[in-house]
Amino acid sequence: MRAILSTPPAIPAGTLAAGPQPALPAPGGLLLRPWEPTDAAVFLAAYQDPEIRHWHTRQPASEDQVRDWFEQYRQAWQQETGGSWAVTRGGVVLGRIALGSMNLDDGVAGCAYWVLPAARGAGVAARALTAVSNWALGEGRFHRLYLDHSTRNFASCRVAVKAGFVLEGTKRSDAVHSDGRHDMHLHARVRGDGQPGGVPAGPATG
Ligand SMILES: CC(C)(COP(=O)(O)OP(=O)(O)OC[C@H]1O[C@@H](n2cnc3c(N)ncnc32)[C@H](O)[C@@H]1OP(=O)(O)O)[C@@H](O)C(=O)NCCC(=O)NCCS
Repeated sequence: MRAILSTPPAIPAGTLAAGPQPALPAPGGLLLRPWEPTDAAVFLAAYQDPEIRHWHTRQPASEDQVRDWFEQYRQAWQQETGGSWAVTRGGVVLGRIALGSMNLDDGVAGCAYWVLPAARGAGVAARALTAVSNWALGEGRFHRLYLDHSTRNFASCRVAVKAGFVLEGTKRSDAVHSDGRHDMHLHARVRGDGQPGGVPAGPATG
């Protein structure tokens, strides 16, 4: 049973789960949609990429496990704890964007992403992060979205800044990656920050 709050929740319980996880269009012909069982092979293959393995220490071991993760993503939406989208163009999966650690009382959630190697450098991650955060801070009724990345992950830092996530500080020795402990940058985009200026509106060519 939920505790009694002395202030109204930012997002009343049941608001997200009342509808299906939305599909979200983004500039450059991108479509963010919930994962489908047929995406399991490409999702598993993504974790063969050394960069994704380096920065994402939780990795699936088989297509069956990937499908279990997809089911967990579906349940997370229903339980209003998270949402994970395939970033696609023309039906082809290019990457992943996710909201997690949802706190509906405070209206706060975290963001995470990866893009397949062949699709990098064309603005896919920044467009996807902008689209999911526009939705979350608007229709989704969240107030604050945050993300963190290693201070050595320069591409991720650029993605965050381009999508309007302001650098708020450095969390020392906050996470373990494949080569040991890392300091982490904390970025956030808060409702009212305005539209990010760093994402080109034209087509993503990667
Ligand atoms: C980080 C990642 C998601 C970026 O995806 P992407 O679609 O290529 O991102 P974008 O094209 O929107 O932007 C990448 C930006 O990083 C910059 N960049 C890329 N490599 C860089 C490097 N080594 N140093 C500095 N900047 C770099 C690009 O120039 C670009 O910035 P610009 O538009 O100002 O030129 C992708 O590289 C990836 O999946 N990496 C592995 C997993 C990962 O790091 N996930 C994030 C964990 S926090």
